[in-house]
Order: sequence, then C-alpha cells, then structure tokens
Amino acid sequence: IKPAEETCSFTVPNYACQRRTQLHHHNPSLSDALTLLAENAELNEDDGRAVAFRRAAAVLKALPAEVTSVSQLKGLPCLGEHSLRVIKDVLKDGSCSEVETTKHSQRFNALKVLTGIFGVGVKTADRWIRDGIFNLQQLRESQTTLNRAQQAGLDHYEDLNQPVTRADADSITEIVQEAVSSLFPGAQVTLTGGFRRGKMTGHDVDFLLTHPEEGREEGLMDKVVSWLDSQGLLLYQKTSRNSYLESRDGPGRPSSNMDRFERCFAIFKLSRGQTSPPAGHQWRAVRVDLVVTPISQFAFALLGWTGSKLFERELRRWAGHEKAMSLSSHALFDKTQKRYLRASSEEEIFTHLGLSFIPPSQRNA
Ligand code: CTP
Ligand code: MN
Ligand code: MN
Ligand code: MN
Repeated sequence: IKPAEETCSFTVPNYACQRRTQLHHHNPSLSDALTLLAENAELNEDDGRAVAFRRAAAVLKALPAEVTSVSQLKGLPCLGEHSLRVIKDVLKDGSCSEVETTKHSQRFNALKVLTGIFGVGVKTADRWIRDGIFNLQQLRESQTTLNRAQQAGLDHYEDLNQPVTRADADSITEIVQEAVSSLFPGAQVTLTGGFRRGKMTGHDVDFLLTHPEEGREEGLMDKVVSWLDSQGLLLYQKTSRNSYLESRDGPGRPSSNMDRFERCFAIFKLSRGQTSPPAGHQWRAVRVDLVVTPISQFAFALLGWTGSKLFERELRRWAGHEKAMSLSSHALFDKTQKRYLRASSEEEIFTHLGLSFIPPSQRNA
C-alpha cells in the first residue's frame, strides 16, 4: 500500500514553455522564498544558481494545488537539493533561515537599492559597495560620477520604484497611440511585457511599434520620440538604432539574448489626469520601453517581448536542446534544414517549435 501523499503527487513537464503558469497560483510562499534566492544570486552574478532557483520557483507556480509535504514533489523536474531544502524549511517553519539571513544582509539590501536606480547594473553597484556606498544618501554625498541615465535614475528614484498601475499603462498607451497614428498613419502600437500577461502592476510599460507594410516602419522611432519630447512628455530618453543587419553573428544566432531592434529606453513625465501623482506632486515619472520592428519580424518580437524572462529563456532552451533550432526576438532558424522558419503570429512559432500554444496570461513562469 502506497503512503497517502504519494497518491496525490504532482506531475509537471520539464520546460516552463510547456506549462500554463497563471499570475495567481497555489504556492506563493514557496515561490517567493526561491525567487528571493534567485534575485540574490543574480545580484551576485551567479547566473547558474539564479536560473536553478528561478526554474524551481516556476515549477511551484505551475502546480494545481498547494504543496503540504515535500513527498508530493517526488519526481518533479528542476527541483535540486538546495531548492528542496528551502521548500522543506518553509513547509515546516513558515520560513527558511537562508532566505531570512539573505533578506536582512547588508550586501543584499545595498545591491537592491543601488541596482534599483535606473541605469545601474550589478557591476556598478558592487564597485560602489566596495567604495563604501550602501545607500542613496551615501551615493549623493559621494563624489561619484554618474552617467546621464544614472543621474535621471537617481533624480526620479522614488517615482520609478513605485509600481506602475494598469491605469498608468492604459494612459501611456493612449499617448503613444496618439503620437504614432498622427505621425505615421497605419502604424501599429502593441502593449507587451508584463501588462500583456495580465499583470496589474509593473516596473515599466513596454511597447512594440510596427507598420503593416515592410520598411514603412523606418523613421518611426525618431518621429515619435521628437513628438513626445516636444509635448514635454520625456524626462529622459536614449534611443539606439537597429543593429540587426550589421551584426556579425548573423540573424537567428545573436551573440547574446539582447535583441538588436531600434529601441528607446525612456522616462515619461505623466501629469495629473494621465496618472495619480504622489500627494503634493503635479506629475510622476514612469519608465517606458519602445521598440520598433519590421512587420516580418513582428511575431518573433511580440513573443520575445511578452516574457516572462524565464518563459523566454525556456523557449530558447527548448528550441536549442529539443529541436535543434535557434530562437531570437528576430527569427527562428532550423539548424537541421539550415533555413529560417517564417511566422506571422505567435501561434505559428509555437507550432514550428512543436509546442502547444500558451496564451500570454499563462506565460507567468
Ligand atoms: N526584454 C528583452 N530585451 C531587453 C529587455 C527586455 O528582450 N533588453 C524582454 C524580456 O525578456 C521580457 C520583456 O522584454 O520578456 C519585458 O521585460 P521587462 O519589462 O523587463 O519585464 P516585464 O515582464 O514586463 O516585468 P515588469 O512588469 O517588471 O516590467
Ligand atoms: Mn546548493
Ligand atoms: Mn515591463
Ligand atoms: Mn521593459
């Protein structure tokens, strides 16, 4: 006779892109604990460990019920010894000492605050910490030279660390929509990122811009950015031009996960009426990402910019390891047939990859 728990153990496919992961799930205390350790590993540039914790957290998010005993997890993928130990502790005591210690460590908190400044990555934050800078006040008082992005990030730190609401996202969508349709009739604006996955808040708002006629998207970014600027809507912007065609590694084989679309990292200035500014303020700052894509790459860009980051990572791992294909936000290359596979919708890309279609709201791995 099998023990009771074993009869109610779960099964989950290996890759997050094979699973449906809703925003709300049954195991937030377990996934939060693992996510915190993943975050800490990322802040310490331990990518291997970070991905291991992210994958473990994603498995727990996909379970159909609350976990009550580790025995239910037998045979599940992506749960290593370390993650299982964390899960065991949380199930037993409601918390895990490694998580609590990390959460309260000076280094973790300093890295979080400093990388929370727009334009500051882990390498910069780590260097500042070694110089004795642990918080914003110490940074402001130091003679540290900041680049333009970091200066804007520091100036608007409070605003940019307030969650962006769905209402803010809708209001920004209207503004971008208005700019695009008045300057480039026929061009299209698509909300991507977390808001497309149904999140109610985000750290920024992400958009893809395209035009249904190939090539007609050229010049779109410059015009949109100039218009936004002339309306006083931009506190900061940095536009990088498309580098896909000239890239050495060639289409479908990007040297990093970064795509090469023309893009704009911006900080918008939203006034009352467009948002609810903090008490006593007339406006608030919001991070916005704009990306322009030719229509022939739109489906790949949409899939690549909808996220979640882990879901994207798993799609690329699936493509490479299971299908001998290479997926990017620009294209899908079949290494066996030595050719690009075209797609005009996300559905077609999933089909090429031999995966069931997962809608955006279920890509919250
Ligand atoms: N992305 C990308 N290249 C970048 C930045 C982001 O391809 N240089 C992709 C990410 O992989 C992700 C999507 O764009 O799939 C959105 O990224 P981001 O805005 O960072 O995350 P969200 O999922 O939107 O979460 P949040 O609500 O915090 O913004
Ligand atoms: Mn370990
Ligand atoms: Mn986003
Ligand atoms: Mn973004």
